[in-house]
Amino acid sequence: MTRAARFALPLLALAAAAAVRAEPPVAVTVQADKAGPVIDRQIFGQFAEHLGTGIYGGIWVGKDSPIPNVRGIRSDVVGALKAIHVPNVRWPGGCFGDEYHWRKGIGPHRQVTLNSNWGGVPEPDTFGTDEYFDFLGQIGSEAYVSVNVGSGTPEEAAEWMEYMTTAQKTALGDERAANGHPAPYQVAYMGIGNESWGCGGSMTPDHYVDLMKVYAHFTHNTNPQQQGPNAMKRIAVGSDGGKLDYTDAVMKAWSTHDYAWNIEGVSIHNYTVNGWPPHLPATGFGEADYAHMLKETLRMDDLIAHQSAIMDKYDPGKKVFLSVDEWGAWLAKTPGSQEGFLQQQNSLRDAVLAALNLNIFMRHADRVKMANIAQMINVLQAMILTDGPKMVLTPTYYVYKLYVPFQDATFVPVRFDAGSYTFQDVTMPRLDAVAARDKAGKLWLAVTNIDPNRPAEIAVAVQGAREGNVTGQVLTAAKVDAINTFDAPNAVAPRPIAGRVVGGTAHLTLPPKSVAVVALN
Ligand code: AHR
Repeated sequence: MTRAARFALPLLALAAAAAVRAEPPVAVTVQADKAGPVIDRQIFGQFAEHLGTGIYGGIWVGKDSPIPNVRGIRSDVVGALKAIHVPNVRWPGGCFGDEYHWRKGIGPHRQVTLNSNWGGVPEPDTFGTDEYFDFLGQIGSEAYVSVNVGSGTPEEAAEWMEYMTTAQKTALGDERAANGHPAPYQVAYMGIGNESWGCGGSMTPDHYVDLMKVYAHFTHNTNPQQQGPNAMKRIAVGSDGGKLDYTDAVMKAWSTHDYAWNIEGVSIHNYTVNGWPPHLPATGFGEADYAHMLKETLRMDDLIAHQSAIMDKYDPGKKVFLSVDEWGAWLAKTPGSQEGFLQQQNSLRDAVLAALNLNIFMRHADRVKMANIAQMINVLQAMILTDGPKMVLTPTYYVYKLYVPFQDATFVPVRFDAGSYTFQDVTMPRLDAVAARDKAGKLWLAVTNIDPNRPAEIAVAVQGAREGNVTGQVLTAAKVDAINTFDAPNAVAPRPIAGRVVGGTAHLTLPPKSVAVVALN
């Protein structure tokens, strides 16, 4: 290197740093004088299937376990889930739901069956209907029960509903009482089958629609507390990312429904996979995988827009809601983990991915009234990982914790220039932001800086407000693939962030690859 170059290089570095610093802040205007729809808290729902160690090990350890538990349900997991205010838990499947026969999972004698979808392992049926409701009671969540359409019968589903909800002295009501629960359970949501175009029975849309009507007609939730405005909502199978005909067929049928049947929601499933079978690693990846997965996940917006457009055709008044009741990152399985258990680690990238999807759902809050990330514990994009007595909270968990103030808040539009982030051939917006006003009147802003290399300074102006401050929490880490482990559980955990108020706007510096939620005080 020449002498001149030796002097020039540090100067160039300084100039580059100054250029980064000199970048003007991004103006973010929270249009506090405008109100959008209420963001249904059910958008923050979870999905727990009998799959791998999602239920057994993750929730259910049995009454005699040395792991602290209440009636067999592990207490550390309950404590963690309570803190994120889980609004509903979709159960028992997934594909498992269309093979589930509820009678085998009640009473003192459980029948061990085979979980042919997921690893071909024995299903002990020790976690059944009564344990599910016990679990919901412990975490303070509502029931979303998916009934078996694929291999079950309308009679089986009708009897299950009666077992759960009747307050009358019937044989099934008495049986529930004998199993320890005299009072009827509340079933807030009932799913009519799961992916009936695939693992739920490979049905044509027309065949499914005929069955959907039968199930909707013959299953009754008679819990006296769930009549009128509190009535159970029935959710039909809609399309997935590829097959778009189901939603159309279901909505067409709905538009001419008669007194005998009705549905209140349609479901769609959409995983962020980046090529089937899922092969991208959950850890040890670099910026290329980071960029590809996030670009892919943003397609959720188009999918919802497309599904909503189909629904608008038959339901311009938006009476039927859209439930994205399976979504999340689907990655290569943890090396060495059991085939079919869909176990994967969870990194900072998953946290950013979760925030982007939750933001999309909130922006579509007029139609999307429910979403369930797949899946709650130990499976796919999980909130919590367990191994025997050990438990760790994932980066995705912390996004759900940060977003609690958005549950049932009112959407407030935000204006900002998202800019762009490019890695090789992948370009996407650099920033994302969503705001809402909670029931107490407080304004909240969630901002994501997707760019893994550049911090973003934002200048937040709240329309109608002259001064104030901005405080909250931010989730980030040194690397895009940073994870929490049993040995290092706090590698990716939120820390405080605060804004400086400069001339009526609050300036906030968002670290690269970060998710922040702040209160606009
Ligand atoms: O979440 C795993 C599986 O993905 C579900 O069982 C199924 O509904 C979907 O295809």
